[in-house]
Amino acid sequence: MDMQAITLARAVLAAARRPVVLTGAGMSAESGVPTFRDALTGLWSNFDPERLASPEGFAADPPLVWGWYSERRRGVLRAQPNAGHLALARAAAYFEQFPIVTQNVDGLHARAGSLDVLELHGNILRTKCFGECGFRCDDPKDLPAGEPPACPRCGQWLRPDVVWFGELLDAVLLERAEQLAQCCDVMLVVGTSGVVYPAAALPGRARRAGAQVIIVNPHPSELDDQAHLLIRDTAARALPMLFEPA
Ligand code: APR
Repeated sequence: MDMQAITLARAVLAAARRPVVLTGAGMSAESGVPTFRDALTGLWSNFDPERLASPEGFAADPPLVWGWYSERRRGVLRAQPNAGHLALARAAAYFEQFPIVTQNVDGLHARAGSLDVLELHGNILRTKCFGECGFRCDDPKDLPAGEPPACPRCGQWLRPDVVWFGELLDAVLLERAEQLAQCCDVMLVVGTSGVVYPAAALPGRARRAGAQVIIVNPHPSELDDQAHLLIRDTAARALPMLFEPA
């Protein structure tokens, strides 16, 4: 544990007035939620990500893609928020606003008790209509594991409410995330490789606008150049130490 970086980061966060957190798959690693690529193991190792996570892949084989997401959904439902999610949820009490912009689709920030979470890539526990009717459903219970169910409104397939390859992010969410990056005074970046845009552009934007950027990641990432402080440790170990009284 790099206590010097932790001590400096604690001081920066204690003085923050408009902090923003950006999280990626590493945030949930200690909850046992595999990243998209790590989940491509066993039976799924022969499949391309694009085949399992794109509108074209779903249209070509709805039961295959639905089955893959059913398995991941079960994994997410079994997982519990880790000490890092819980530390972020508690940290909200110290600030007027404490938005968390996440690329994760597992809903673990909300389950930990965080209230202001922007799920940029959607949520695997929700479903929506594959057609144009706009139907959305929040309840993961009773979803079949085999064929995708039909949309109760228009009869099209239902699909997971996540952002697939080739799809645009929700424009309202993205605009709020960009504004937060522009206006924050500290951006805490946790567990992201920084290779998937537009989320990966947020730390650079925050830094150019004058914010301090703190990265928590046990490994190097594409964002390291943007960091004022690098904490080379895991989310569940480092985050409780960043906010809680010594
Ligand atoms: N604590 C913190 N960081 C960790 C931990 C941990 N315990 N374990 C791994 N990491 C870091 C890795 O070092 C890596 O930099 O988490 C990062 C995970 O990177 P990715 O798997 O690329 O995840 P992410 O950046 O969220 O990917 C973005 O890509 O697969 C798509 O849509 C999916 O939202 C995802 C997007």
